[in-house]
Amino acid sequence: MTNNMIKQAEDYVKVLLEKERSGHDYYHIERVRKLALYIAKKEKANLFIVEMAALLHDTVDEKLFDEETAYANLELFFNQIELPQKDREAIIHILKYMSFKGGINEGKLKSLEGHIVQDADRLDALGAIGIARTFQFAGKFGEAMYDPNIKVREDLTKTYREPSTAINHFYEKLFKLKDLMNTTTGKQLAEEKHAYMEQFIEMFFHEWNGIK
Ligand code: ADP
Ligand code: NI
Repeated sequence: MTNNMIKQAEDYVKVLLEKERSGHDYYHIERVRKLALYIAKKEKANLFIVEMAALLHDTVDEKLFDEETAYANLELFFNQIELPQKDREAIIHILKYMSFKGGINEGKLKSLEGHIVQDADRLDALGAIGIARTFQFAGKFGEAMYDPNIKVREDLTKTYREPSTAINHFYEKLFKLKDLMNTTTGKQLAEEKHAYMEQFIEMFFHEWNGIK
């Protein structure tokens, strides 16, 4: 029964993210799903909710879709698979509050399952893949790779929708994620990826500044 629902969620998200080219393609979803299930088993969380939320988490992202339409479509999908009301609520709560949005959502996510999917999504924003996704995102949305005239913003809560640069994104979000991990496993996995990004940024500026 639940296996069938998971398969249908997989098909639903595949269609929506098929042509996605800002770092949120179906392979991102698969990585988040795998990582989330790995953490969920350690934390003894509800695996069905974790897997469904991981699969569906980017189908309602305001950067990719019109939010209102996306939630209406999700409701139709839930009707189609006859998902029980309490599962819908658990999944929607996660989808609504897991996104960073400049920090405005911090503290709003209440469930263990939500904390796990959020950690998995954030882990995929870090490390080598995190770096690659950031530049793909910046290219797609017309941001500069780097521009010394564009300053890193301290407080993003009101301006998180405005464009930045790929390099600024490391300071505005990515370097903060390590300390925002919810689970012990998430924290451990974030360490190595964080260190790798620091090395990358160091080399980037070394090359940017050239030979003195
Ligand atoms: P969240 O679900 O936490 O809001 P996003 O979907 O905003 O996460 O971000 C996912 C990834 O997309 C980021 O980790 C980054 O790689 C990329 N990204 C998001 N915003 C930007 C940006 N302004 N500049 C460059 N990359 C970005
Ligand atoms: Ni995601």
